[in-house]
Amino acid sequence: IDSSQILNLFDFEKLAVGKMTTMAYEYVASGAADEFTVRWNRQALDAIKLNPTVLTDVSQIDTSTSLLGLDLPYPILIAPTAYHKIMHPEGEHATARGAGSAKAVYVVSSFTTTPLEEIAKVATQPLWFQIYVRDDRDFTKALIQQAEALGFRALCITVDTPVAGVRNRQDKALFGLPDGVNTPHMYGGLAEKKPFTWKDIDWIKSFTKMPVLLKGILNSDDAEKAVAAGMDGIIVSNHGGRNLDTVPATIEALPRISEKVNKRIPILMDGGIRRGTDVLKAIALGANAVLVGKPICFGLACGGAEGVTKVLEILKNELELAMALTGRATIASIDPSVIWK
Ligand code: FNR
Repeated sequence: IDSSQILNLFDFEKLAVGKMTTMAYEYVASGAADEFTVRWNRQALDAIKLNPTVLTDVSQIDTSTSLLGLDLPYPILIAPTAYHKIMHPEGEHATARGAGSAKAVYVVSSFTTTPLEEIAKVATQPLWFQIYVRDDRDFTKALIQQAEALGFRALCITVDTPVAGVRNRQDKALFGLPDGVNTPHMYGGLAEKKPFTWKDIDWIKSFTKMPVLLKGILNSDDAEKAVAAGMDGIIVSNHGGRNLDTVPATIEALPRISEKVNKRIPILMDGGIRRGTDVLKAIALGANAVLVGKPICFGLACGGAEGVTKVLEILKNELELAMALTGRATIASIDPSVIWK
């Protein structure tokens, strides 16, 4: 990776186009249907203006924060994304090493193409596990217990995918896993048709000791139900615009969810986070931390573990600059007053 040319997260995507197969690039880059939500995730962040405060002491910027018992040096996590071996031959192995060097939490997708055991072996930072609940509940339970036994520190249950979205672009690229790439912990497609409801969430909560987060909340009433169900956190997400097209940008959904949750449980957010200013805006509007999806895939494609580390380091560095330039030396001092109204 040429550091003189790869300066921001958008540069990684441009470079990745030439490094990935068309099928893999289309899989990562595309969203559902007409991709309105993919664009809105970015446009809504761009449309928010900042309101800096001058002459505060920003000589020491502290991006550290704590989340579900973990001390994070900065509030950015790796979102769960499937099939890393189609992005880079070292797959999730490289992602885990990249996360380790960057000191970031890596949320491993249940559609990992590398066994969880191998990922756990190379990880030097906490791992979280993401699960798609299958119709076979014994299978689901065994998988969660396996992740827990391997030391995964939290469970993210994806709740926004009762069926997969209208993925026209992905289908046109004839998406399929190449020979030799498989998902050792998951069978079937993204979603299955058996009912999956709040009862199943109660059931999972009853047997796992890991903190449980629901990933894919956009509706503040659902956020309230998540708190009532005893969840340890929620992830405000529209799946990067890959499921239901024309749902709002996550940054637009965040304030009302944050108001409803009122700090009872941590709120994470993902969707379109590409700049340090985006992280700052999400925190100002109520997120405790953010996750990044596509940029990690592109970083992985461009430079394996090093690419993943670089994506995170660039974003962290940009966050520090955004904090200094808005007069916020700590994460706790980033409040709604940093948003221009
Ligand atoms: C995803 N996402 C996802 N989410 C999940 O819960 N399980 C999964 O296996 C996947 N797989 C996946 C693959 C790829 C290629 C992408 C791009 C995304 C959604 C992901 O966790 C996250 O919500 C979004 O990617 C966040 O938006 P950005 O950062 O990609 O804009």
